[in-house]
Amino acid sequence: MNLPAKLAVFISGGGTNLQSLIDAIKAGRLSARIALVVSSRSDAYGLVRAENEKIETFIYKVKDFPSSDEAENHLLAVLEKYEIDYIALAGFLKMVPASIIRRYKDRITNIHPALLPKYGGKGMYGHYVHEAVLAAGDEESGATVHIVDEIYDHGLILKQGRVPVLSDDTPELLAERVLKMEHQIYPEALENLIRGNK
Ligand code: GRF
Repeated sequence: MNLPAKLAVFISGGGTNLQSLIDAIKAGRLSARIALVVSSRSDAYGLVRAENEKIETFIYKVKDFPSSDEAENHLLAVLEKYEIDYIALAGFLKMVPASIIRRYKDRITNIHPALLPKYGGKGMYGHYVHEAVLAAGDEESGATVHIVDEIYDHGLILKQGRVPVLSDDTPELLAERVLKMEHQIYPEALENLIRGNK
């Protein structure tokens, strides 16, 4: 594959991970170009980050299409139009259609705000993850970058970064600490993947 790799970043919210990828590319730490940002929400702040960088955006809402098959086919056609090599999920709260997971086998990554396989699976997102970590009394948490397969939070783990859980932590404080770690490891994990050093 020719470098820089063409990346699509899928978001649903604030897009701080998208920003960390943009910043890593600018700093020469990630051999990629973000050719497209796909958002499941039209009001995601991440879209503003994309527009600031003149990155093309696409709003993907299944309900805008007559059927989920048509939505899926359309998304696949958009990815092909932009000749996307890799897809990085960054806070994307929808399931990636199975046909896309098959088409981009081992080339879709996700970042999860816990040390998988702990605290993964359906319903384990956002503050729920950090609340569960605190409720369990764990001494550490962290972030995981993994390959996306057809099972939620399940694919091959590419990289993890650990952070301590502090005695006076709240879900918000822990989330902030984990998010910082996410911003560090996501570009590193993608760079390794793109360069074939998985
Ligand atoms: C991150 O915590 C990520 O782990 C999770 O969703 C959050 C997205 O944050 N999958 P942001 O939109 O990148 O700021």
